[in-house]
Amino acid sequence: MTVAPTKSRLNVRRLAGALGAEITGVDLSEPLGDETLAEIRAAFVQHQVIFFRDQTLTPDQQVRFGARFGPLNIHPYVSGMPGHPEIMEIIKEPQDKLNFGGGWHSDMSFLETPAIGSILYALEVPEFGGDTLFASQAAAYDALSPGLKKTLEGLNAIHSASREYSAQGASAQKRSSMTVAEAEGAAGEYVHPMVLVHPETGRKALYVNPAFTLKIEGWSTRESKALLDYLFEHSRYEAFTCRFTWRKGSIVFWDNRSVWHFALNDYPGQRRHMRRVTVDPRS
Ligand code: SIN
Repeated sequence: MTVAPTKSRLNVRRLAGALGAEITGVDLSEPLGDETLAEIRAAFVQHQVIFFRDQTLTPDQQVRFGARFGPLNIHPYVSGMPGHPEIMEIIKEPQDKLNFGGGWHSDMSFLETPAIGSILYALEVPEFGGDTLFASQAAAYDALSPGLKKTLEGLNAIHSASREYSAQGASAQKRSSMTVAEAEGAAGEYVHPMVLVHPETGRKALYVNPAFTLKIEGWSTRESKALLDYLFEHSRYEAFTCRFTWRKGSIVFWDNRSVWHFALNDYPGQRRHMRRVTVDPRS
């Protein structure tokens, strides 16, 4: 039997000044028609992070939805779900002290070709807490002075997973609930421009983050630290952020090219279970 593609009934409602919109009127478990897909993609690049409620997705359906936007990434250091290597299970058990993603970052900036977006689906959420914060790095860039913008033009920064995923890294401590591989290659370093021009909108955004950016190429460690610390402080200013309170069945799709995120760790003794697929650029 052929399944008819869904017709578009999308409603997009902005949630905050700098970024974020909630989308209703679509069931992401269904095969999406091209028109609906184009509307979701347009909302994703315009609003930088989009939110859906009351969805029910099997792993196959989440993979199918994610794959409409590009090839799915297989995380080099976190084991995938059995049978679905492209799905990362993000679980915090009641006894776990640390959570995954509990600091400002953009996913996979430590790779040579970073991911464009991540799609996170909530299976089980705590009774309270466990929100995720998002910060627009496009808004953060816009708010810089012309002088600092000029200084940043042409500068590159060195990114690496070494702080998070090496044997001593922060993620190593979370192995009780998530399998994080001993990451030989986590010491690999890749250079990215400090200001990214979004390939779809042309809008500029800061592209450095506290988890994975080690230093500025060609600058001393002390010089790098001074400027990076300033940018890290500036980039999380509340006017650039929005905050999402999860419910079971919520799905969030954020643009790693222009958004930082931060999973809050404020729900001790409770369980939180999410599934993430991460979308790579098309080559
Ligand atoms: C992540 O960093 O991908 C996890 C975000 C979250 O669990 O809210």
